[in-house]
Amino acid sequence: MKTKLLYFIPLVFLFACNTSEKKVDEEKIKVIAKTENDYLIEGKQIAEATFKVLSTNLKNVMAEGGVENAIKFCNVNAMPLTDSLSDYYNVTIKRVSHKPRNLTNEPTALEQHIIDNYLALGTVENMQPMIARNEQQKNVFYAPIPAKGLCLSCHGIIGETLLPEHYETIKKFYPNDKAIGFKEGDFRGMWSITFKQ
Ligand code: HEC
Repeated sequence: MKTKLLYFIPLVFLFACNTSEKKVDEEKIKVIAKTENDYLIEGKQIAEATFKVLSTNLKNVMAEGGVENAIKFCNVNAMPLTDSLSDYYNVTIKRVSHKPRNLTNEPTALEQHIIDNYLALGTVENMQPMIARNEQQKNVFYAPIPAKGLCLSCHGIIGETLLPEHYETIKKFYPNDKAIGFKEGDFRGMWSITFKQ
């Protein structure tokens, strides 16, 4: 990533300048630690990129084969797509929810605590992305995932935005589904992106 490259450029520059003198200024070459703001910027970029991959695929599949087809697509591809982006960015990307569809996306106790704090703020506009250390002292990026109009055909209110026949298909794949009843602008879930360093 670009930000990572920026950290290395000054190092390369220093080594290049010092080869003739052989005297290295230890102070100057110490690795520059990422600040909280760096993690915040990186987290936002990763969340945006992941959202784009998921929603672009979703839109294409919905346009081609409708909601039924898209439910199957999400069932098969949502996790592998997220996992491959985790590898690409060298982080662990999760989408967790207080009302999960896939039980793998149930929040940990710490994530539930952060979700509760977000929910207490009322509207999504008040919920800011943030960085906090987890139980393993790793930096984690958190941000709300709002429900948009497009989402409601699978996460909306049955009989209103979510057709009962579509919900039957969803229930076949997810008998314990809790991810319905959302309206546009609701807090649907949360990004939880753990940095390895
Ligand atoms: C075609 C149906 C469909 C649409 C439209 C859809 N989703 Fe989902 N969503 C699913 C399915 C199915 C899963 C479970 C995926 C899995 O098994 O990993 C899911 C999972 C999720 C999750 C992970 C947490 C959980 O409950 O398991 C989030 C967050 C989420 N969706 C948000 C959204 C948002 C935001 C939109 C709109 C931009 C959206 N979804 C649109 C079907 C849909």
